[in-house]
Amino acid sequence: TPGVRPLIAGNWKMHGTLRDAAALAEAVRAGAAGTGVELLVCPPFPYIHMVAAAMLGQRVAVGAQDCHAAAKGAHTGDVAAPMLADIGARYVILGHSERRADHAETDAAIRAKAEAALAAGLTPIICVGESEAQRLAGDAEAVVTAQLAGSLPEGFARAGGVVAYEPVWAIGTGRTPTEPDIAAIHAAIRADLVRRFGGAGEGLRILYGGSVKPANAAAILALPHVDGALVGGASLVAADFLAIAAAA
Ligand code: G3P
Repeated sequence: TPGVRPLIAGNWKMHGTLRDAAALAEAVRAGAAGTGVELLVCPPFPYIHMVAAAMLGQRVAVGAQDCHAAAKGAHTGDVAAPMLADIGARYVILGHSERRADHAETDAAIRAKAEAALAAGLTPIICVGESEAQRLAGDAEAVVTAQLAGSLPEGFARAGGVVAYEPVWAIGTGRTPTEPDIAAIHAAIRADLVRRFGGAGEGLRILYGGSVKPANAAAILALPHVDGALVGGASLVAADFLAIAAAA
């Protein structure tokens, strides 16, 4: 999208040791200087503080993979958005399909989390995407539109919120939609953002996620309304993650 700086985000999911996270962060930091895009890494909770400290004053932002909807309280095992901001996170991924599946997260729950993120000064990256059955039934656009309507909070555009389109069947499978199919969903998401937020929706970033690799990144990132990528597996290999960034 013209005037929009691409965001290449790495979702490390539940992988690696503290030592792995430190090495990966250092390799990304060292390679970040050469890229003109915004880089973001989202480590598992226990490693965020260390990675954020390593990235302090560097060109790589740090984010989390989830947060709770409450700012604090009796919620054993959960992590609050203000805690994430406190340890140096600037972004939080919300509503990833793995959380929707593993933790039965609804659009309403994701919206509540996004409100908490905004209140804590974090930028939410809200994930949407259809299952394979939904795509085969011709419902991909309707599913995504409904997810957007249910999960994006009021202040989303004002805070520069990010949408990530991740077709569930393309995550970790090596399969991706065709380029026209990606472009069609991204155009529909843009239209939806503009309908809801007016002109502010024009400049919001819409990421594509699902089996993004160095080999397919340039073609995907060149599509209209693809303003970056949310990368899983390939973000665990610094050279691959940086190659994707270089393709943007
Ligand atoms: O959040 C990113 C993710 O779900 C995509 O994973 O491994 O297909 O790049 P992957």
